[in-house]
Amino acid sequence: MELGLSGVPVFVGGSSSGLGFACARGFLAEGAYVTLVSRGGERLASALAELQRHAPGRVHAVACDVSKPGGATRAYQEASDRFGPPLVVVANGGGPPALPAANAAPADFAHAHELLLRPVVELVQAALPAMRAARWGRVIAITSVSLRQPERGLVLSSSLRAAVWGYLKTLAREEASSGVTFNSVCPGYTATERLQALATSLAERDGVSVDEVFQQWRAKTPVGRLGKPEEIAAAVVFLASKPAAFINGVALAVDGGAFLGLL
Ligand SMILES: NC(=O)c1ccc[n+]([C@@H]2O[C@H](COP(=O)([O-])OP(=O)(O)OC[C@H]3O[C@@H](n4cnc5c(N)ncnc54)[C@H](OP(=O)(O)O)[C@@H]3O)[C@@H](O)[C@H]2O)c1
Repeated sequence: MELGLSGVPVFVGGSSSGLGFACARGFLAEGAYVTLVSRGGERLASALAELQRHAPGRVHAVACDVSKPGGATRAYQEASDRFGPPLVVVANGGGPPALPAANAAPADFAHAHELLLRPVVELVQAALPAMRAARWGRVIAITSVSLRQPERGLVLSSSLRAAVWGYLKTLAREEASSGVTFNSVCPGYTATERLQALATSLAERDGVSVDEVFQQWRAKTPVGRLGKPEEIAAAVVFLASKPAAFINGVALAVDGGAFLGLL
């Protein structure tokens, strides 16, 4: 299938590792021009170096903490200056700390808002004018299976991802005639550094081994294994593609069947 992404400028948040890195690789394989974004440092430098080997001249990196006010706006602007205004924006980044609901204070929610919701609002505000002008654009947020099925200990993720999705779902309706689509990919347990860190924190909380946490996650996933980052990226790249133009306002579970509800 021709995805129509060759030459398209793409912004991928949180792309020095994990799901964002896999998305960047997937877009480059389709011939897109990709801006990587993370807070910087060695991980971003080595991600850039690795991808440049496969796609010289089609990838660059912006070091930016998107949880700071104006951070995501600046990152979008830098991407724009390099490859032209990104017409595909993948809103992705770090996850908030694991906390049970009873322990989560207003300040924790405020911090989670800065990490998860505000950057998405900044990116949409920055990107929408060029997308409207092109009569084509894609905004895809990587959220979580916890959007539909809250997990114990992940109240910040569940609450703020629901806010992100409420925002994008509203845009999907309001902007439907502009050629811009707004969708979300909701990963289940997927083997990345973040998952390793989460396993360590949950193992400490529950007094079990990290291996046991991973076993529990596999048991909760009907296919019996963790997801691979490239399996999440495949869904993101397809939603960004030209043939996906009629898919708008969808939160797509890519979770090996972990979400157990009907809808
Ligand atoms: N893996 C899973 O099983 C899973 C499941 C459901 C949902 N998710 C969600 O999907 C997202 C990506 O997960 P992942 O597993 O790929 O995590 P990851 O491997 O930790 O990657 C997170 C990325 O975000 C960047 N980042 C973190 N904070 C940032 C900030 N303030 N500003 C800019 N960049 C920032 C990190 O780079 P730097 O450290 O270089 O800044 C890194 O590139 C997270 O929100 C996670 O909660 C993951």
